[in-house]
Amino acid sequence: MHDLVLLAAGEAVTQNLSIFDPVSPPAESIRSLSVLVLAIAAVIFLVVEGVLFYSIFRFRRRCNGNSESEPPQVYGSKSIEVAWTAAPALVVFMLVLVTTRTLWEVNVEPPHPKAGDQALFVTVVGRQWWWEYVYDHYDGRPLGFITANELHVPAGEDGRPRPVYLTLKSADVCHSFWVPRLAGKTDLIPGQTNHMWFQTSQTGLYVGQCAEYCGTQHANMLLRVVVEKPADFERWLENERQPAREDASVADGKQAFLAQSCVNCHRVRGTPARGTYAPDLTHLMARKTLASGMIANTPESLREWLSAPQQVKPGCLMPAFGLNERDWEQVARYLLSLD
Ligand code: CUA
Repeated sequence: MHDLVLLAAGEAVTQNLSIFDPVSPPAESIRSLSVLVLAIAAVIFLVVEGVLFYSIFRFRRRCNGNSESEPPQVYGSKSIEVAWTAAPALVVFMLVLVTTRTLWEVNVEPPHPKAGDQALFVTVVGRQWWWEYVYDHYDGRPLGFITANELHVPAGEDGRPRPVYLTLKSADVCHSFWVPRLAGKTDLIPGQTNHMWFQTSQTGLYVGQCAEYCGTQHANMLLRVVVEKPADFERWLENERQPAREDASVADGKQAFLAQSCVNCHRVRGTPARGTYAPDLTHLMARKTLASGMIANTPESLREWLSAPQQVKPGCLMPAFGLNERDWEQVARYLLSLD
């Protein structure tokens, strides 16, 4: 099992979760604010500790001389009291101002999609314990397909940004969308709609994590954002928009899949499988991972997942169906054809 739990070791290098290494304007604003707050806190720390150590040293009990004598005691000094009230109040006031400015920079009301805006609009639905992505619009074009767990977005190119606007909702409990290098945390709350945005011109994989405790598998509700060159993103979009590939060589597998209760929860576009409760499997093999970023999407781990989801991700809402050997192999072969 352990070989399944970890993704390819090579990928570990790209697992950068540092808020101090931003690649997107909201994350940059948050880094600047964090550095400023840390600097102010460091100065206060040094001043307080400095005075403390000075006093400990300067007024320590000495062996020689008069140990009974007290240092001078000061009562009711107006100037000292004004100073230690005004200074912290000023510091707090300044922090309120810069925090408010950062909030304004980070919270952007999403515009209406229109042709030529080069903007991507996606609705993110948090679910126990995976992410559903409803692709709404790109560059003013309606998209209307659904995928799961791996968010593909275009990178800015030739100095033209390609902003990404996310609409955040929850199907069950509170979750929080957090990819530190792209933007700050934003909660997904049942019955409420939140928004966030980011944009970057640096292609690559950006990882993140659900940042609000949401149940047993909260820690394994991982986020993967793939930022691609616009041409690669268009190719990915084109593939995702197609219904599932028909492959005569796995017709038996398709029959076996449709005969199982898989179809009550999962959708495979172009087939009678129209469940909306679990991840859309139309292009399952276009994803690099399974179980919300937990394990690599290889034929072996897919078979393992089908036979024992509760061992791979205990508590997840996919039960083990106890398929017989033949059905299990056929369903696996069908799913492996969905690229
Ligand atoms: Cu979803 Cu924690």
